[in-house]
Amino acid sequence: MAAPIAVVLAAGQGTRMRSETPKVLHPICGLPMVLWAVEAARQAGAGRVVVVGGPDRALEPILPDGVELAVQHEPLGTGDAVRAAAPETADPDTTVLILNGDVPLITAEAIRALVAAHELDGAQATVTTMLLDDPGGYGRIVRGDNGTITKIVETKHPGDATTDELAIKEVNAGIYAFDAGPLATALASLSTNNAQGELYLTDAVLGLAKVRPHLVDDPSLTLGINDRTDLATVTRLAQQRIHEAHMLAGVTIVDPASTVIDATVAIGRDTVIEPFTHLRNGTTIGERCRVVHSYLDGATLHDGVTVGPFAYLRPGAVLRDNAKAGTFVEIKNSDIGEGTKVPHLSYIGDADVGPGTNLGASTITANYDGRNKHRTTIGARVRTSVDTTLVAPVSVGDDAYTGAGSIITEDVPPGALGIARARQTNVAKYAEKRAKS
Ligand code: UD1
Ligand code: CA
Repeated sequence: MAAPIAVVLAAGQGTRMRSETPKVLHPICGLPMVLWAVEAARQAGAGRVVVVGGPDRALEPILPDGVELAVQHEPLGTGDAVRAAAPETADPDTTVLILNGDVPLITAEAIRALVAAHELDGAQATVTTMLLDDPGGYGRIVRGDNGTITKIVETKHPGDATTDELAIKEVNAGIYAFDAGPLATALASLSTNNAQGELYLTDAVLGLAKVRPHLVDDPSLTLGINDRTDLATVTRLAQQRIHEAHMLAGVTIVDPASTVIDATVAIGRDTVIEPFTHLRNGTTIGERCRVVHSYLDGATLHDGVTVGPFAYLRPGAVLRDNAKAGTFVEIKNSDIGEGTKVPHLSYIGDADVGPGTNLGASTITANYDGRNKHRTTIGARVRTSVDTTLVAPVSVGDDAYTGAGSIITEDVPPGALGIARARQTNVAKYAEKRAKS
């Protein structure tokens, strides 16, 4: 059987989010909502993935290579959105997998199970369903004989469902497998004769001979996001899933509840993440590292690195093996050499620091002259003393030193001591003179 085509619906306005940003672009653990479904479909083995977006093409920049964008010109409903993906162009026997772009927790495994059930049963459509104690605004599944589905009744707006139908606890999860041929025929016959005046995808089941439910027993996989309270609920579950994957792979997360880890983060074995840490935006951490109460955004840590407490590592910060970024240290776009330590109160920006170096407390790079950023180069085995300001562009050679309180504006040659500060004068008997005057 040919690989299924996945269609991800993501052109709705998402008015219930009350946001300038399209709903499906709101991030969940650092990944735009819609990409969760896209990734699950890809991992489940979809041959093509088509995302249906709005005419502003706002989704285009975030779609991974190989994922197609189809444009729905007006948000006329989920049925119209599927039409925009032109399922009639597929071989009629192909399975078309349809995923709501606002149902992000669906897994590749659950999608594979749906496709397998669909292909085994020979139904024209298979609809993922879940049982909810509080079925809320989900579409209700009306079952007919032999466990088939006769219709799906919408409930978001009054007028579509009867009181009896509203009491049904089995709901449409928004994830479907259709045979392409019957789907195209059913889509052609949809009408807007309903409470919202939309073309409901769910009405497509009315035109099909055999529609089967596929009940998932874990409804947390199929929660939809309609407003920001749903966003928070789903983010919590997504975060739990990310934590679990890292812990099972050998990472200690001391207190998951106070630890934020984006979906794009990689962490090596035997690394320990202490409470109140944020790991964001593609941060990569090696093995045997320790991160204490810190915020890492697009940073790279090789093995054995220690960070924090209270460090802020920004994009392009690279800490090589056994390096250290200590307390109240900010590092961005800088390469910190093997075993090099930046222990206290420093800002290191746009710098290349060699191995075995120690930057004394309050070593600061003055990397920005108000117009341009400049680089600072610090060699191997350098010792800067406390309160060294390095005015870039400037370099400090291997084995060099700086004096405490120095403002280094000229290169320090290898092995030299750079001191750049006013000499001290002591005014003798100052206190006595003051008392007399
Ligand atoms: C939909 C289902 C409902 C189901 C629920 C599951 C319909 C008519 N109803 O309701 O039965 O229980 O999902 O979460 O399908 N979209 C478009 N174009 C449009 C309208 C929507 O691309 O014109 C996209 C949205 O971006 C969203 C998805 O389709 O990702 C679902 O739309 P939404 O309006 O949230 O549908 P629900 O009311 O949640
Ligand atoms: Ca929805």
